[in-house]
Amino acid sequence: MIVVDTFAGVREHGDGVVGLVPTMGYLHEGHVSVIAAAMERTDTVVVSLFVNPLQFDGITDLKTYPADLERDASIAAEAGAHILFAPSVDEMYPEPQLTIVHVDEVGAAMEGERRPGHFDGVATVVAKLFSGIRPDVAFFGRKDAQQLAVVRTLARQLSMPVEVVGLPTVRESDGVALGSRNTRLDQAARKSARKLSESLLVAADQFVAGERLAGPLTATVREILGQDTSIAVDYVELADAISAMIVDLIKGEVFLAVAARIGGVRLIDNVFLDDRTGLADTGSMLTHNSILYESKSCS
Ligand code: PAJ
Repeated sequence: MIVVDTFAGVREHGDGVVGLVPTMGYLHEGHVSVIAAAMERTDTVVVSLFVNPLQFDGITDLKTYPADLERDASIAAEAGAHILFAPSVDEMYPEPQLTIVHVDEVGAAMEGERRPGHFDGVATVVAKLFSGIRPDVAFFGRKDAQQLAVVRTLARQLSMPVEVVGLPTVRESDGVALGSRNTRLDQAARKSARKLSESLLVAADQFVAGERLAGPLTATVREILGQDTSIAVDYVELADAISAMIVDLIKGEVFLAVAARIGGVRLIDNVFLDDRTGLADTGSMLTHNSILYESKSCS
């Protein structure tokens, strides 16, 4: 694996079908599974690692976002990536970024509503990655379901010749969706965090048993989360997988999403529910401890 810090460097080394896995680093098994999917489908796998200032809500979250290039380089190399693209802020934003990509409506509810400007930051950096690298296929996690919908929309509507692929969520052995911010949870908060996936899994069973209305499904999630007073629920919503519009009734594929603040850390999780197959995609679980906890936890 080579490490490059310029767009030109990536283009120079990309052979055959180029796959891109955009990340903000501090890699874990969720990222690794996305890289593995890229390895199966493409000839050159580029992992980008850039903590994008444009998409952070506050300077504190940005400053405390864990970073360790050496650690990430060894994980990406072991996962089979061919190129690690780790640009500086100057390479990504050499001048004030006047061109902002705004995906209306898809990015409006849920995360978009709670984190104004967040999806503009995501869409802008992803558009820059797509234009600067020119991947044939780009791989994203379903963990960030609304982000996936935003990215699919921007690629389609800006006529970018890239296929966007979404991959299932990887969870820790107790069900908690892997996320770099999990390292910031203290023991009590970590235990409470389990309720998020627990509640979604119960609702997913309810869906598989035949429930198609949003009301009972979101009520199940709220009821389970309500049992733990340390969980401050931000939202529980059922949304269309493609448009990210909030829906009352399941038609086609949707995701049931939750966002909550636990012990000062904001976490999101979801399950995908498909009315056409009657199946739920709840992701997969690790059988071992995550690599997230192998080194120091930065916070
Ligand atoms: P980051 O949070 O580092 O996530 C990078 C990719 O990994 C995203 O597509 C995300 O959905 C996926 N991912 C994260 N946790 C996962 C999990 N537990 N299981 C499966 N996939 C998971 O998302 C971003 O970075 C940024 O917004 C980015 C798209 C890179 C733009 O800056």
